[in-house]
Amino acid sequence: MSHGSDDQSVNFSGNTSFQDVLSSAVENRGRRNIIKGGLGFAALTALPGLAITSKAVAQNVPAALAFPSVAKSLLDEVVLPPGYSFSILHASGDPIDPSVPAYTNAGLEVDDWSHRIGDHHDGMDIYYIDESGRYSQAATSRAVLCVNHESSADSHFLHPTGQTSNGQSRKKFDQFGAWDLGTRPELEVLKEINLHGVSVVELHKTERGFSYKLDSKLNRRITAQTPMRIAGAAEHLADIRKMMRTAFDPSGTTSRGTLNNCGHGKTPWGTYITCEENWARYFQIASGSNPGDANHTASLKRYGVASAPMDPKATKAFGQGWHTVSESDTRFTRWNLAVLASDPSGDFRNEAYTFGYNVEIDPLNPAAAPVKRVSMGRFAHEAAVCGVPVAGKPLAFYMGCDSVNEYIYKFVSKALWDPKDVGGGLAIGDKYLNEGVLYVARFDADGTGKWLELSFNQPEIANFSKYQFANQADVWINARLAADAVGATPMDRPEWGAVNHANGEIYFALTNNNIASRTPAKVNAANPRSYADTDGRKAMGNPNGHIIRFREAAGLSTAATFAWDIFLFGAEDDLGSANLSGLTAANDFSSPDGLWFSKATGICWIQTDDGAMTDESNCMMLAAIPGTVGDGGRRTVENRVTIAGVEQVGTQETFIGAALGEARLKRFLVAPRGSEVTGVTETADGKTLFVNIQHPGEKTPALGEAAQFKLESSWPGSIGYGKPGRPRSATIVITKDDGGLIGL
Ligand code: FEO
Ligand code: CA
Ligand code: CA
Ligand code: CA
Repeated sequence: MSHGSDDQSVNFSGNTSFQDVLSSAVENRGRRNIIKGGLGFAALTALPGLAITSKAVAQNVPAALAFPSVAKSLLDEVVLPPGYSFSILHASGDPIDPSVPAYTNAGLEVDDWSHRIGDHHDGMDIYYIDESGRYSQAATSRAVLCVNHESSADSHFLHPTGQTSNGQSRKKFDQFGAWDLGTRPELEVLKEINLHGVSVVELHKTERGFSYKLDSKLNRRITAQTPMRIAGAAEHLADIRKMMRTAFDPSGTTSRGTLNNCGHGKTPWGTYITCEENWARYFQIASGSNPGDANHTASLKRYGVASAPMDPKATKAFGQGWHTVSESDTRFTRWNLAVLASDPSGDFRNEAYTFGYNVEIDPLNPAAAPVKRVSMGRFAHEAAVCGVPVAGKPLAFYMGCDSVNEYIYKFVSKALWDPKDVGGGLAIGDKYLNEGVLYVARFDADGTGKWLELSFNQPEIANFSKYQFANQADVWINARLAADAVGATPMDRPEWGAVNHANGEIYFALTNNNIASRTPAKVNAANPRSYADTDGRKAMGNPNGHIIRFREAAGLSTAATFAWDIFLFGAEDDLGSANLSGLTAANDFSSPDGLWFSKATGICWIQTDDGAMTDESNCMMLAAIPGTVGDGGRRTVENRVTIAGVEQVGTQETFIGAALGEARLKRFLVAPRGSEVTGVTETADGKTLFVNIQHPGEKTPALGEAAQFKLESSWPGSIGYGKPGRPRSATIVITKDDGGLIGL
């Protein structure tokens, strides 16, 4: 989803790294600022991180990409290389229960979304099962597919005439990303609540390819009001529950629902992790009501939650207006965070503390309540990537927080990996994901980095001036603030992470950043670019994003340090000197988001959610053959932008991977208009790839808003899937016509 809100930083920590020190020594020569970023050159030559021993690279590195790169496209179609085909598995609104009628694609008149595929398909994964329905690590003829729905209540295609309020159609967002819908109709809000969450369907393979079984007992919808269990380290569980007390559950043991499920993770024991990303925008504190004490409101502000009462410039509140439906029905009052009662058990002041987690789901047990894993931290979770598991060693999960200037985190389990735990469901999740240590990354200018522990025992956290932590539970629940306190490196919006199974290296997409955050004075070694794209659609800062990667010291999940470099810089081919990876018209891309390595082929798949070069091409998916951290070298980035007539220039030292060229980086897919490409998984044989197309036609005005309403996209109805007309998010299934491996 394009999140207008992500462009506004709520990181007020002032954390940067060395460039702040240096910028204080900047010479201001009239209208020209000369800035030298990075460390001194003597320090750079040492490169201790790059001397870290690399494990031998395993065999599964592809030799070449055996397809011609697809040209950029503005068509309302899925474009693939010759010799590849796709079909549609499911689209928003398809029934997952035989009692539910086919989707009309005209805006439902009843709320039965909890029996239909949700909206805004995103992260996903596949789980094989044996004949008795148990998890299987080996490929079988049965499988289920879990799909996240990064749904938005901006659901103008999902109501008969768009969202309404007081009989009027949806009004536009104001400049703060807030909207005013007045008092919302109950039916619309129920539909919006239930189109969020996760869909689980059993796959069904026929001669014509994959479909899903409409009548499978494994089909399931998890929505924004599905009951969930709150879990965390036993020693701190009472403190966790204290912060989760609400009128729904005064004990703080359970909560309702999951929101904005973006990236995902697959655990080594065979469960699904769905990551809650932009949950902050669903809440409101009615103007003039009590928002809570200063510490509580500092937390709300740092998470961008219900910021209207705290932002004097904002005239309207954030939120979807879900709280306006009723003053007594807690399905709706829960979205109002105002302090209304004498005690948290009498209102929903704590409701926002019940969102922002990795949520573990057992895809094979529809009766098992999903679990919120509090010890993995609370932030705008973008994916939970498990490093290569090693028997007898702790597991590490790598996680991004997607917002401007946010951080990359690592959770290291206390329990040591035991392969016998495969198939054990959520009880095994309790073993590995409750007890452990949460870290945040600091990327240093010498090409190394450090994992900084987020512990209440750290003096920087216990004595932090901007927020008073009560205990370790508070550190996990306010992880962003704890990360501020220890000096984590603010990144260019961390999106998905991925693990290169061949060598254990971890990759992260840093989708983009704006000019307010990345001037030549505000870059750092790991986020080194500040430039202007002056061609076609214009932008400044780091509008095209980059992909960073790192290797843990000695390859250990428990490493305290790592070595990093930048795998790829996004760019338009004609960007000039800021096109640091030498992209051409055959492989240029912007705003990497989804990122995933195929176990079958070793290909690194890169998916985009772009708004910077969409005048030249719709969003896309590329295939890359990666090398290893340190296979390139040091680079001096020349930064230059002109802001309000003042030219600012500077240099920043960084480390960049070896150029891939047109042979090792190719565009594989271009998506329909207005969509992003996100979510990818494969069958174990590498011959079928599942890919999600999210929100085609996103920029189309709300239905009913304009008589001259014209669809930007009408995919996939336009290719004969379901009723024609309105665009729908969908999972597509890609195969090679000769039955071979995808991409090779
Ligand atoms: Fe949901 Fe950050 O993309
Ligand atoms: Ca441009
Ligand atoms: Ca261009
Ligand atoms: Ca994303």
